[in-house]
Amino acid sequence: MLNFTFHNPTKIFFGENQIAAIAKQIPADAKVLVTYGGGSIKANGVYDQVSSALKDHQWSEFSGIEPNPQFDTLMKAVAQIKEQGITYLLAVGGGSVVDGTKFIAAAARFEGEQPWDILAQHAKVTDAVPMACVLTLPATGSESNTGAVITRGTTKLAFMSPHVQPLFAVLDPKVTLSLSERQVANGVIDAFVHTMEQYLTFPVNAKVQDRFSEGLLLNLIEEGPKVLATPDDMEVRSNIMWSATMALNGLIGSGVPQDWSTHMIGHELTGQYGIDHARTLAIVLPAVMKVQREQKRGKLVQYAQRVWNIVDGTEDEIIDQAIAKTEAFFKAMGMPIRLSDADLDAASIDVLVAQLEEHGMTTLGEHGDMTLDVSRKVLEAAL
Ligand code: NZQ
Ligand code: ZN
Repeated sequence: MLNFTFHNPTKIFFGENQIAAIAKQIPADAKVLVTYGGGSIKANGVYDQVSSALKDHQWSEFSGIEPNPQFDTLMKAVAQIKEQGITYLLAVGGGSVVDGTKFIAAAARFEGEQPWDILAQHAKVTDAVPMACVLTLPATGSESNTGAVITRGTTKLAFMSPHVQPLFAVLDPKVTLSLSERQVANGVIDAFVHTMEQYLTFPVNAKVQDRFSEGLLLNLIEEGPKVLATPDDMEVRSNIMWSATMALNGLIGSGVPQDWSTHMIGHELTGQYGIDHARTLAIVLPAVMKVQREQKRGKLVQYAQRVWNIVDGTEDEIIDQAIAKTEAFFKAMGMPIRLSDADLDAASIDVLVAQLEEHGMTTLGEHGDMTLDVSRKVLEAAL
């Protein structure tokens, strides 16, 4: 196991009707800005629950944070914070609203020249407006981690800072009932791939992390098809929601090598072609498993045996079956698994590789050996 420091300070309120808990968590004298997206929270009653919990607080709102939140939109909220003297941010929505609010929190207190430098130049974030969230879409893990992914035009970049980790997160599985089937499936696959990016590298004998990861993968494989077949089952919803949080709250990634190449290549697919985040991952991950087979051999065999119970055959046969099972699971969840499933052909590969180069994504993977040539091979394997 590698050395690590693990600290996750986000307080979680999990379960039905927990939105009321925000009343006591936000300081009484705070000037709160509630941020949200395109209005789903007005249709499903979440906005009303938040309003009623904040009845004794002074608060205003900022709406219109879009999926794959755009820098220009977020900078409007930064202006509002400065104008109104906002001291606390409450994000109410999915990963995009939470990520967008993290950026707003950091940009409002940024002392450098251009807040975009936080993403493009890795400018250090030294302060941020305190923030918390009410999560409405289980997927990204953003509700209890330090990361955010922000888009400007076709460029999609990430930053991380402990200053933007939510102080608390409300996870009420009931509010996920209004999600479309597509968003529910996206969430399951995003959480699955987060787990894989921290698990499918090379063995370092980190038994706790490995067994936790395998548990999360098994849960998602089990509960994913169930949530599509019986969407009103609250127990299934609860297990998916908690799996997604645990998949990217720092726990399973502590003390192990991490990959993230699937995400970085996936971000280019979203930036260029607007494909949903999770759907890009379903296209890229199987191809990474094929192209990086030798680097990942030990963990691929472990994954095959422990997650899919595949024991018969040579090592290569076992790995082939595990990749096929992964693809079948993605397909059963309604995902595209090839570029062609998303109506893209070989012509897209040059574009995507050029974007990877422009964004400095030239040494991806757990060994840093995924050069642009290797990423090209991955995209070719995904055709
Ligand atoms: O805008 P509204 O009206 O809220 O509608 C949203 C949006 O259209 C809707 N939605 C959310 N909750 C709902 C709901 N509709 C009905 N009922 C509800 N309860 O769902 C749509 C998609 O929402 P979005 O927030 O974009 O989805 P998701 O949570 O999958 O977030 C994706 C974003 O997170 C980033 C992705 O890159 C992408 O930008 N990620 C962030 C990570 C992190 N911070 O750690 C890690 C991830 O890998 C990911 O990259
Ligand atoms: Zn993701």
